[in-house]
Amino acid sequence: MLNLGILISGRGSNMESILKAIKKKKIPINPAIVISNKPDAKGLKIAQKIGVPVEIVESKGFKGTRAEYDKKIISTLTKYGVTPRNGLVCLAGFMRIISPEFVKKYKNRIINIHPALLPAFPGLDSQKQALEYGSKVSGCTVHFVDTGMDTGPVIIQATVKINEKDTEESLSKKILKEEHRIYPEAVNLFARKKIRVSGRKTIIG
Ligand code: GAR
Repeated sequence: MLNLGILISGRGSNMESILKAIKKKKIPINPAIVISNKPDAKGLKIAQKIGVPVEIVESKGFKGTRAEYDKKIISTLTKYGVTPRNGLVCLAGFMRIISPEFVKKYKNRIINIHPALLPAFPGLDSQKQALEYGSKVSGCTVHFVDTGMDTGPVIIQATVKINEKDTEESLSKKILKEEHRIYPEAVNLFARKKIRVSGRKTIIG
């Protein structure tokens, strides 16, 4: 079975949705490790409660380069069997840009969730960006991570409607509900080897 490593920085609600689906035997993957770059990430407690090992690789105050930090992440993943041959890495609210070295080593084995319909509104504060732009729909995207910023091949997207009364908070809530549905679904497709990458497209099934 594949080994899953989840990287978080905070709340960890997407991580929780994936781990719960695994515990319910909906996804054939071993939840090997949750790693946080922040020692106080709320998601750490949730992972421990579910019974998944956790590690902290603190990024604050780290003096080396991005690639050197990522080396520490890679060695932690490797320790738990999340390797380029037998692993999947999920970024779940991991608020760091990862190095090209990390991306290349785990080619098409790192996936991310983003709270917008990429390629619209990449980067930070995507829900705010969508509201300020005046979009009538937004949503979320699960995609492979490449060396660009939120640019890798799309795996699944879900849409939500935006109405005049929406605030950043209400829109984020609607989008998060869809995130919790499509992220476990994408992990399941990957675990069952149903995703093929062809150029910048994915072929599912
Ligand atoms: C989620 O909304 C996720 O899409 C977003 O951070 C939140 C993390 O929540 N990620 C990004 O904006 C990445 N650019 P969570 O910790 O509860 O899963």
